[in-house]
Amino acid sequence: MHEMKGFRVVITGKGGVGKTTLTSCLARLLGRRGIRVLAADEDPQMNLPHALGLPPEQALAIVPLSRNPDYIAEKTGARPGKSFGALFRLNPDVSDVVGRFGVRIDDRLSLLVMGTVVQAAAGCLCSENVLLDSVLNYLALRDEEAILLDTQAGVEHFGRALAKGFSQCLVVSDLSFNALAVACHAADLARQLGIGRIHLVVNRYREDAGDKLQRFREATGQDTQRLFDVIHTLPGEARFEDLEPDVTRILDQESAYVSGLNRLVEDLLAFEGRRRERSAAALEEEGKE
Ligand SMILES: Nc1ncnc2c1ncn2[C@@H]1O[C@H](COP(=O)(O)OP(=O)(O)O)[C@@H](O)[C@H]1O
Ligand SMILES: [Mg+2]
Repeated sequence: MHEMKGFRVVITGKGGVGKTTLTSCLARLLGRRGIRVLAADEDPQMNLPHALGLPPEQALAIVPLSRNPDYIAEKTGARPGKSFGALFRLNPDVSDVVGRFGVRIDDRLSLLVMGTVVQAAAGCLCSENVLLDSVLNYLALRDEEAILLDTQAGVEHFGRALAKGFSQCLVVSDLSFNALAVACHAADLARQLGIGRIHLVVNRYREDAGDKLQRFREATGQDTQRLFDVIHTLPGEARFEDLEPDVTRILDQESAYVSGLNRLVEDLLAFEGRRRERSAAALEEEGKE
């Protein structure tokens, strides 16, 4: 596991199900294993900086890329809001983005606050979205670290970049009907994009989960067992209330939640190991021909 190079994971699911909490804890756990991590926040609530324990005054001072008109104009050639009829540079070089806007949390962990996609009229191209798309495309190619993308917009907004570089998708849900419905939809889309491993993370798991999932299956015809490659469970954890917003302190003490997280990390890394072996084998085959 020491030779682990980069890999990219997108975290999605309905609002409030525990995505940001999970993303920040995973970022820390991967860091503890010696893996460099870039946590990217695409959630409009922008609470990943807080969850990662950044001091509030520092967290509140962060301007997301989507609200940085100077950077957007520099890269795309068009100012947000003034771009009607303008000509964009559609694939601007944004390889300076982490250097300029990345926030260093510790030796192994950095944060990039992207901001969210603009909900535009159908077919409208906004310079903000062109920029975010380019940043995601760029991240999809970065190979020296693990990238965790915390997103609420849903995977459909980012088709190309996710399909290119993101090998795994963590779909987070609680046991509520609505969250499960969003999760199943996300799994479908992630599958269509060709993402290699799609996890369901049932957060706030309870004893009656089996009944709930069965009722959901009967009502919707959606079968979580079939839609997801693997199902993980994380129990409710009362301590979060006291730890907020710096929730990764949950990791300082053993608990069922932390054991569940560690199993999830093992699974993520094991899949990356297999993926690497497969691509090495494919390269060798090519060499023989
Ligand atoms: N397993 C859990 N048990 C109890 N509370 C949780 C758990 N996971 C997350 N929370 C709490 O739920 C709330 C929403 O979590 P958050 O990670 O911000 O969700 P999201 O990013 O999906 O909107 C937060 O107050 C968080 O502390
Ligand atoms: Mg969130």
